[in-house]
Amino acid sequence: MLEQMRKSSRSLLIMVLFGIVIVVFIVNFGPQSQGTSCEQMNKEDGFAAKVGGQTITSNDFRYGFMLMGGGQKAPKAAQQERLKETVMDLLAKTENVKPEYVLSYPGSGTPLANLVPAFSSPTRAWVMASPGYGSGASRDIGNKVVHVPLRKDYSHDVEAMIKMAPNGGAYYVCNPNNPTGTLTPRKDIEYLLAHKPKDAVVIVDEAYVHFSGRENMSTDLVKQDKDVIVLRTFSKLYGMAGLRAGAAYGRPDLLAKLSKIGRTGNLAIPTMACAAASLKVEAKLLTERMAINKANRDLAFEQITKLGASAIPSEANFFMLSVKGMTGPEINKAMAAKKIMLAGHRWPEWANQIRVTVGTKEEMQKFNAALAQVVQEGPAKATAQA
Ligand SMILES: Cc1ncc(COP(=O)(O)O)c(C=O)c1O
Repeated sequence: MLEQMRKSSRSLLIMVLFGIVIVVFIVNFGPQSQGTSCEQMNKEDGFAAKVGGQTITSNDFRYGFMLMGGGQKAPKAAQQERLKETVMDLLAKTENVKPEYVLSYPGSGTPLANLVPAFSSPTRAWVMASPGYGSGASRDIGNKVVHVPLRKDYSHDVEAMIKMAPNGGAYYVCNPNNPTGTLTPRKDIEYLLAHKPKDAVVIVDEAYVHFSGRENMSTDLVKQDKDVIVLRTFSKLYGMAGLRAGAAYGRPDLLAKLSKIGRTGNLAIPTMACAAASLKVEAKLLTERMAINKANRDLAFEQITKLGASAIPSEANFFMLSVKGMTGPEINKAMAAKKIMLAGHRWPEWANQIRVTVGTKEEMQKFNAALAQVVQEGPAKATAQA
């Protein structure tokens, strides 16, 4: 009896010890609870790889998204994290800044909208060109917006921007400007930096700068720790509008103010893969695409000159067109009747202009043919159509 009791207490002790080993093992190496962090995921991946095991912790359906078919596994959060590191590294290296001087975003529209509450207010204006890009966000949240007409050469009138809003919070320069496609020289951006209020910021939106060349980029001012934020996007020259990728460059304290408003910097894996691939061949891509864009833009400009219409010389992949005797809406309507859709008339301050995007060679040939008909038919037909 005594011997039996001794035996069963020994096996109980063995079971307890075994139980403790299992608990310690699970706590250290076992599946984590919901909301697993990326560091944990990395650890788990490392452990899983070592023991030839698998990670089944993060509640993601393991068969991948529907188009992958059977047999392939969904990319893991840890893979996403590694790809993000690559993209952030490339974003920083391409502009020769430290990694903490850049934030990724799904496009540049998000940081642009967030910059409005970050740096302007109902009393500290968002100061921008007229015509220019954006400002909807400022209006919607009741912030002060000051519109400053472009100079005669279509650059930002920086002296007037300071004069009209000496107490501004954010001085926004779209370079090249949308909708004009025109550049504002470096000395003018430096003028804003030198004359703005001490706590204000200069924002340079370089959505289209890739079409105009590296020499027009302002990221070196970021590197010099100036009060400047530079916005970039993969939507334009990189052709990735639907994939949504962009970046904000700035001093870490300025980026901290921006990211307080909202951060959605986690980009999808296909987006990051395409962004990384583009940045790896950035110099080649820029040279090739700048040349294609210029050739197709020149094709349209030759026709415009031949037809006696006019366009503002552009450094981007769009330009402002005018046709003698016709308003912008009339040109728009007449071209639409020829099945060429232009940008609509979104800049009412310029009644007689319409924005044209530079398309492929074939698209610009069709644009040219339609424009010839519109000019030939003239304002009378356009007025009748209106
Ligand atoms: C000047 C400028 N900035 C920013 C954007 C936002 O583009 P995305 O959010 O696709 O980067 C646009 C889009 O047309 C733009 O023209």
